[in-house]
Amino acid sequence: MSESNNVSELQGGLTASGAVNTEISEHHRPDSKATEQRAATESKVISSDPWYDSYAARADNMRASEIRALFSVASRPDVVSLAGGMPYLEYMPFRELSELIGKMLVDKGDVAWQYGSAQGDPHLREDVLQIMALEGIKDVQPDDVVISNGSQNAIDLITRIMCDPGDVVIAEEPNYVGALGVFQSFQVDVVNAQTDEDGLIPESFEENIKAQLSAGKKVKFLYTVPNFHNPAGVTMSVERRPRILEIARKYHVLVVEDNPYGLLGFDGQTYPALRSMDAENVVYLSSFSKIIAPGMRIAWIVAPPGIRKKLVLANEASILCPPNMSQMTISTYLDNFDWKQQIAQYRVMYKERCDAMDAALHEYLPYCSWNKPKGGFYIWLKIPEGLNSKEMMPRAITAKVAYVAGTGFYLDGSGTHHMRLSFCYPTPDQIALGIQRLAGVMNNELKTAELFGTTKSVSDR
Ligand SMILES: Cc1ncc(COP(=O)(O)O)c(C=O)c1O
Repeated sequence: MSESNNVSELQGGLTASGAVNTEISEHHRPDSKATEQRAATESKVISSDPWYDSYAARADNMRASEIRALFSVASRPDVVSLAGGMPYLEYMPFRELSELIGKMLVDKGDVAWQYGSAQGDPHLREDVLQIMALEGIKDVQPDDVVISNGSQNAIDLITRIMCDPGDVVIAEEPNYVGALGVFQSFQVDVVNAQTDEDGLIPESFEENIKAQLSAGKKVKFLYTVPNFHNPAGVTMSVERRPRILEIARKYHVLVVEDNPYGLLGFDGQTYPALRSMDAENVVYLSSFSKIIAPGMRIAWIVAPPGIRKKLVLANEASILCPPNMSQMTISTYLDNFDWKQQIAQYRVMYKERCDAMDAALHEYLPYCSWNKPKGGFYIWLKIPEGLNSKEMMPRAITAKVAYVAGTGFYLDGSGTHHMRLSFCYPTPDQIALGIQRLAGVMNNELKTAELFGTTKSVSDR
C-alpha cells in the first residue's frame, strides 16, 4: 500500500471543534483516478488559508487522526468514551509526588530548569535499565539509551534518520494510528503485513519484503508493536519472535520494536523483547506514558551504536534536548515509590475493565467478534457485514457513546468492518453502559440494513 491513500478519509472527518474539515491542497496529489475525482470535488471547498500553495509536500501528507478529531466530542461528560487511549491515573500518588518534585526543583534547580543533554539525563538513562530487564533486556548500558519526548517523537526520529520519500516501512495490519501519521509525513510507503491472534505472521512479513524488493523498493524497517497491540489487542507469540528476527536479518531489514504496553499484561506475564534476542538489528522503544503518566512526555530508545548516534543528532536538531524537568520528575518517582507495585495495581484495574467490556460485549453484542486481549488497553471489534463503523459514528455520538472507527488504522479506506474499543479510562459500569448504547445503535443499523438491503458501501479487507 502506498501513501496515495486516505486523501479525504480523514479530512472528511470531524475536526477538533466538531466541524467538517475541508482543508485540502491540490499539489502533490496522489494520482489514482478516484483520488483525483475526490480532490477535484474537495478543491471547490478549499479553505481560505493564504499559505495553502506554499506548504511542503510532507505537510500535504499530514492528516488529522480520527482519534484527535473525536476528542472534543468524546470528552463531553455525558458521552461514554471508548475512544481514547488515555491511562487512568487515579492511583498515582500525586500529592506525595508533588511534594518531592517541589523539593527537587529547588535543590536541583540549576539542572532541572536548565538545558540538558540531547541524549537525555544520565540518571534516567540508568533508571530505565531496571525496567527493560523485566522483559529480558539485560545487556544495555546507559550510553546505549536515548531519551525522547514520548514514543511518538521516537517514531518520528527513527523514521527521520532512516527513510527517504518512497522508502517502504512494513507494519502490522491494522496500524497504530500515531505511527501512520509519522510515516505519512515522511512520505513513506506503508506496507501492511498480516496478523492473526498470535501477532505478525512471519510468512506475510517475508512475502511483503520479497515483493517490495522485486519491485525495486527499499524496505527500511519493520515497525511492530509486539505486546498488546494498539489497536488489534494481540500479542506476538514467543515462538514467532526469533523467526521474525531471522527474516529481518536475512533481508537486512531493521526491526523497530515499539513496546509501551509490555508491562501491562493482566496476569503479570511479560514476553521476551525482540531486543533481548538481537542487539544489532533491533531499535527498541518504550515509554512512561502508559505505566506512569503521559503528561511528562518521556520515553526512551535503545539502538545499536551507529543508529544511536544519528538519533542523538536528530534529537538535537529537532528539540535540542528532552526537558530536564520532566526527566527528573520521572526519576524522582522511580527513586521514591514502589513503581513495580503501582504497575501491578494498574494491571489489576485494567484487567477488571477488560473483563467488564468482554462481558458486556457477550451480553449486548454477541453477533460481533473479537479476541479478548491478555493485556493493554484495546479490543478490536469486528462488526457484522452491512454495517460501516465510520458511517455509524454520528449515530453513536448521538447515542452518547464514542469509539474509533477501524478506518483510522488504515491508509486505504479499509477498516469499515472494525472499530477500536478502549477499556482503559472508563469505569466498569461506564463500560457496560457504553456497550449497551453501542448495541442500541448497531441493532438499529442492522434493522435499517435489513429493511433497505445493505447500508452503504463496505470495503473492508
Ligand atoms: C503503540 C504506541 N506507540 C506509541 C505511542 C505514543 O506514546 P507516547 O505517549 O510515549 O508518545 C502510543 C500511544 O498510545 C502507542 O499506543
